[in-house]
Amino acid sequence: MINERLPKIWYGGDYNPEQWDQEIWIEDNRMFKLAGIDVATVNVFAWAIIQPSENEYDFSSLDQTIDRLYQDGIYVCLATSTAAHPAWMAKRYPDIRRVDFEGRKRKFGGRHNSCPNSPTLLKYAPRLAGKLAERYHNHPAVVAWHVSNEYWGYCYCDNCEKAFRVWLKNRYGTIEAVNKAWNTAFWGHTFYDWDEIVTPNILSEEWEGGRNTNFQGISLDYRRFQSDSLLENFKLERDRIKKYTKDVPVTTNLMGLYDELDYFKWGKEMDVVSWDNYPSIDTPVSMTAMTHDLMRGLKSGLPFMLMEQTPSQQNWQAYNALKRPGVMRLWSYQAVAHGADTVMFFQLRRSIGATEKYHGAVIEHVGHEHTRVFKECAALGKELNLLGDKVIGSRIKAKVAIMFDWENRWAIGLSSGPSVALDYVKEVHKFYDAFYKLNIPVDMISVEEELNHYDIVIAPVLYMVKEGVADRLKTFTKNGGTFITTFFSGIVNESDLVTLGGYPGELRELVGIWAEEIDALEPSIKNEMVMVDRYGALSGTYTCSTLFDLIHSEGADVLATYGSDFYAGMPVLTKNRYGAGAAYYIASSPDQVFVDAFAQTLKDEQKLASILESDQGVEVVAREKNGKRFIFVLNHNDKEANFKTDNKKYLNILTNNTYQGDSTIPGREVFILEEIN
Ligand code: GLA
Ligand code: ZN
Repeated sequence: MINERLPKIWYGGDYNPEQWDQEIWIEDNRMFKLAGIDVATVNVFAWAIIQPSENEYDFSSLDQTIDRLYQDGIYVCLATSTAAHPAWMAKRYPDIRRVDFEGRKRKFGGRHNSCPNSPTLLKYAPRLAGKLAERYHNHPAVVAWHVSNEYWGYCYCDNCEKAFRVWLKNRYGTIEAVNKAWNTAFWGHTFYDWDEIVTPNILSEEWEGGRNTNFQGISLDYRRFQSDSLLENFKLERDRIKKYTKDVPVTTNLMGLYDELDYFKWGKEMDVVSWDNYPSIDTPVSMTAMTHDLMRGLKSGLPFMLMEQTPSQQNWQAYNALKRPGVMRLWSYQAVAHGADTVMFFQLRRSIGATEKYHGAVIEHVGHEHTRVFKECAALGKELNLLGDKVIGSRIKAKVAIMFDWENRWAIGLSSGPSVALDYVKEVHKFYDAFYKLNIPVDMISVEEELNHYDIVIAPVLYMVKEGVADRLKTFTKNGGTFITTFFSGIVNESDLVTLGGYPGELRELVGIWAEEIDALEPSIKNEMVMVDRYGALSGTYTCSTLFDLIHSEGADVLATYGSDFYAGMPVLTKNRYGAGAAYYIASSPDQVFVDAFAQTLKDEQKLASILESDQGVEVVAREKNGKRFIFVLNHNDKEANFKTDNKKYLNILTNNTYQGDSTIPGREVFILEEIN
């Protein structure tokens, strides 16, 4: 449970009373209560108000806000306000301002704008967190701490450069080891002194905003270093807070598939993971599902917080469609189904000025409760109240795991060849989507995660194989597990240095193949995967594209071969028996039809259970606790659809209707089914 003081699914979101006059505040509370809101995230962007100058702190308005909310039974997720520094600080202490990728010193402006290695930030941000904790740690309203906001972006200033050298010293010990890791004999880059090392940006090794680099080793380490620097910022604030409070969890809101931070490292440092869900208009619902599962995976499956979502529309997309009636509720429950114990919004009241005034809110500009959005929010608030503590703390049990790794993602993105079309997230999603459609739960795991409770582990495009990972995969497979990997795997180590002796390097023995060459074609050019025989649900021909490993079997069974080009007849799908298990290699980027049939084959072979059978677009996820299972049935279609339970009888705990066998669910409706005897 996130906090025993509020033993239900938390409901609320970002609240900025500092943007409003007093008479509105009373009205806010009235409307919050009407909407069933019980948590307000406050003080997210108020550093300049709380600290008007060097040694002056003014908590009077925050005192009032917290007291006023609490009097009305609304708890507080207390933010530390450090995601945007005050203008006076930027003026007096230029070191707090970032230097951007182009090497330009930023002026004051925007947010997430502080250099993570700025002495000024390192002094004042933790100091503010400490003062807040000192003042409010005993306040009964405070149920969670929210450090900064959406840590974001890199800095390339001189302080970062110096700190980078220190970080490198800690990682490598000697300059010789750095030279080795970065292969600096290439292009005569040998470094003799730490001071010769500079930040990689447009002025040195990178171009196209950092999408390209001359030295993958340098660029990878800079990403690790910047991610660590920001994480260090988080930890400094967290530790100040922890000095005063042990029981109230500390978090910071992450951004799902955001590229620049290694969230698996971050998850370890957070008491509870929280994240902000803003799907674009073309984001598949299964991508959102995957992202929820990834966020849950950051802490090995513990429930997380949905810290933000919009009640209606966003403002920063190109086209900010309204959430259709029912969609806000549907997506809220989707988050809960995947492990969220909170449903929170940005924002509770829509601001009147600046860039987010057209961003959705529980309370719209009209200011009253007679709006579609408010009514939908209030209906959900009521429902979550009735749900009480039923599902919170419950867990998802998966037999299938998909590995995801940020450093691998960076390395693939920076690889310079063989193809710019390779999209790691999309390749991962293909596999996720296939199991999603079968209503088979999946855990999104780090490469470090314990594997032995899984039947199947899939590591799409495991380009970078970190130390120990190959051995753990071998042990997993030897003990009866099924391992699946794809083209362009096993190529480099943690420093992006190629493993010699033939691809896929450290995975070669496990998958029982050798990849001699890798072809890369313009993505509209397809090859075929021709099944040698029917294999489970796989038969006939599928298409594949993008990258094509030219592989030779070294003991693996050949299940499919390429249909065309000069490598027609060479293997494209293989299965290698390994100990009590098996390892598959998919040598090219397969179409979704193949991946779907492959997942179906694995399902049949391994007798994996679908939670329920359902029509397309009806998502089914289950959470369990104390021997009880809650089956979420989420109809993403706008029309009625079908699903089918086993022979047992189920109660929809949201309505008390019962279901057995063939059943229907209205469009955009959500059921939470519990088995009854
Ligand atoms: C992010 C931020 C919020 C707000 C929303 C708008 O998630 O954390 O402060 O800007 O986006 O979508
Ligand atoms: Zn900097």
